[in-house]
Amino acid sequence: MRGSGRGLREGGWDRWATVYRFLERLALGRSLERARDQVAHVAGLEMAGPKPAGPEVAGSATPWLVVGDGDGRGLAALLETLPETPFVSVDGSRAMLERARHRIPEVDRTRVRWLQVRLPDPLPTEDLQAAGLVTTFFLDCFTPGELTAVWARLASELRPGGLWLVADFTPPGSLQGWRRLRQGLVLATLYRAFGWTTPMRSRRLPDLEMPFTAAGWERTWLWRSPGGLTTVTSWRKPGRAER
Ligand SMILES: C[S@@+](CC[C@H](N)C(=O)[O-])C[C@H]1O[C@@H](n2cnc3c(N)ncnc32)[C@H](O)[C@@H]1O
Repeated sequence: MRGSGRGLREGGWDRWATVYRFLERLALGRSLERARDQVAHVAGLEMAGPKPAGPEVAGSATPWLVVGDGDGRGLAALLETLPETPFVSVDGSRAMLERARHRIPEVDRTRVRWLQVRLPDPLPTEDLQAAGLVTTFFLDCFTPGELTAVWARLASELRPGGLWLVADFTPPGSLQGWRRLRQGLVLATLYRAFGWTTPMRSRRLPDLEMPFTAAGWERTWLWRSPGGLTTVTSWRKPGRAER
């Protein structure tokens, strides 16, 4: 029985692909959508703003990497905000990638390279050196041990001085009163639902700041949704970009 449960969970993210948007909207309204929009907004601001010292930091031809992209809503917003930028979209689920591909207008599809990879497996890209990296509601999928490996793999794909934009759930411990209680309940429900239906082993929100602070990354943006459900953070990788 345990074996068959595991077998069912293996294709879990593929099965989620068709209902993910609908169920998200039903359970959480537009909260996650707003966080994804905020990520696109920050990406636009950061790319338009002054660049840190160095010969070149985030040229428009340098790709951005979107990982655990899901059904492509975050990518669609980014393509709009960064109209010159090529993207690499990575997800472990073929069905999610398929859904994302359909969502993106044909005119923008030539700017996107799609990769089906299950992190922390290596990406089949040669020295990508991405200018930006985006993960929305993806890093929460991992246990602390898994997160260490996934984080290290992704960090190595980002060029020095590059940005990593993270949208995820706010840790309950950083909220007060009923919001803290509600956040705990929301997370417990989501972890249970994904734990039953996908290969995800994580059962609680890992510390998503720790890998960045431990590696000396600079936080350049912090946004918390009005109700406190989600947080968007922009981190800059230490070092200067080389030509
Ligand atoms: C909770 S969904 C988030 C999707 C999207 N980023 C969003 O904002 O809604 C997690 C996504 O990560 C993908 N995923 C989960 N574990 C993965 C792994 N180890 N490697 C690659 N993708 C993974 C799933 O297929 C799914 O599309």
